[in-house]
Amino acid sequence: MHSLPSNLTQLSTFPQTSKANDKGHLMIGNCDTIELTKQYGTPLYVIDLETVKNKILEYTTSLKRYYPDSLVLYAAKAFACTAIFKLANQFNLGIDVVSGGELFIALNTHFNKEKIYFHGNNKSEEEIKYAITNSIGRIVCDNFYELELLQTIAKENNKIVDILIRLTPGIECHTHEYIKTGHLDSKFGFDLEHLDNVLEYLTKSGKNLSLKGYHAHVGSQIFELEPYLDVIDILLGQALYTKQKYNIEIQELDVGGGIGISYLNSDDPISIDNWAKLTSEKIQKKCKDLNLKLPRLICEPGRSLIGTSGITLYKTGSTKQVPNGRRFISVDGGMADNPRPITYKAEYSAIVANKINKPEQEVVTIAGRYCETGDILIKDILLPKILPGDIIAISNTGAYNYSMSSNYNMVPRPACILVNNGQSEVIIERETYSDLIAKHKIPSILI
Ligand SMILES: Cc1ncc(COP(=O)(O)O)c(C=O)c1O
Repeated sequence: MHSLPSNLTQLSTFPQTSKANDKGHLMIGNCDTIELTKQYGTPLYVIDLETVKNKILEYTTSLKRYYPDSLVLYAAKAFACTAIFKLANQFNLGIDVVSGGELFIALNTHFNKEKIYFHGNNKSEEEIKYAITNSIGRIVCDNFYELELLQTIAKENNKIVDILIRLTPGIECHTHEYIKTGHLDSKFGFDLEHLDNVLEYLTKSGKNLSLKGYHAHVGSQIFELEPYLDVIDILLGQALYTKQKYNIEIQELDVGGGIGISYLNSDDPISIDNWAKLTSEKIQKKCKDLNLKLPRLICEPGRSLIGTSGITLYKTGSTKQVPNGRRFISVDGGMADNPRPITYKAEYSAIVANKINKPEQEVVTIAGRYCETGDILIKDILLPKILPGDIIAISNTGAYNYSMSSNYNMVPRPACILVNNGQSEVIIERETYSDLIAKHKIPSILI
């Protein structure tokens, strides 16, 4: 929990170890963030180990309490990085990967193969072969094209492949359109009305595929509990149908990820413990009512595991006061290291990391450095007076920031460091200009 002096409520969206030191600097993991920017440069992603560990433990201990036969998969898409995969494996989590690249990191970090789940709505033949020949735990099948591909590749390799079927539950939830996934008009998963075709295929032709369970993911940054409870009703309803008509009893129920986090002070997401308790109770009751064996409960959190542990530190540069309009403060990063604001109007909180104890004095707009008018990180935020060279810290950048970053405008990606107990270490190095052209080739006709 946060133990902040009462005048530092602005740190409530920051990692759990956040506090101010007597210089008025933001401290994370007992490291002075201003010293970190001097040592590693800016922009800089900082991950607080204690916050990640606490979030992992929140999931695992609450599920152990309410639903012992459960498995938490870290949704690697949130932040796919070797060090974080290692950490997830050390805590006996499973991992949800969505590409050959994420699978490569998992195999390369010697992740427990049985706990690797492979998602995606258009896995390539090569990716499926890679997964099957490495005997990973489960492939989460998304569509008919993939179902047939899985059968063919499994047969060629003389394997029986354990699969989950991803269903589109037809559930609307309140989040941005681009991060909703469970509604009917979604590109992900099988429609419920096509489930019979899947089950008939599996009984007649899919001899190398073994159906282990059903999966659904309603969306991301979800604050309500109802969509999860509704999903359970739908998935277990299908489980009953599957048992009655096809004599197949599912063993796993994967309810996806999606729990939201507080990007703003006013955000009020459900707690992990409450989610675990009510989800578990719902499954237990529904299975009893339907006379189904309790399946293993799988969940796939990304944002709620890693998001709050991360901050990004930027240095301020130019400013612009629009006559009778906004005051823009430009920083040395923006949409390429954090594409969420421009992609889906995501909102963030920030502080001036070297002026924590200074009074908030002006409403400013934090602008990125990239050549897009929409490259605005935060609109109209009340902050202390800002001068060039100040350090802005934006909270909750641990998820979907580095993993969605780009080299737009040929700007090297920032470094990412892990902090803990006053120590800091690089987990991803800052890119260099040479890295930017490392894959470029000059064709012979130009030489
Ligand atoms: C299938 C699936 N599982 C899990 C997640 C992780 O979601 P979150 O980071 O919101 O927990 C996603 C995110 O898009 C997803 O598509």
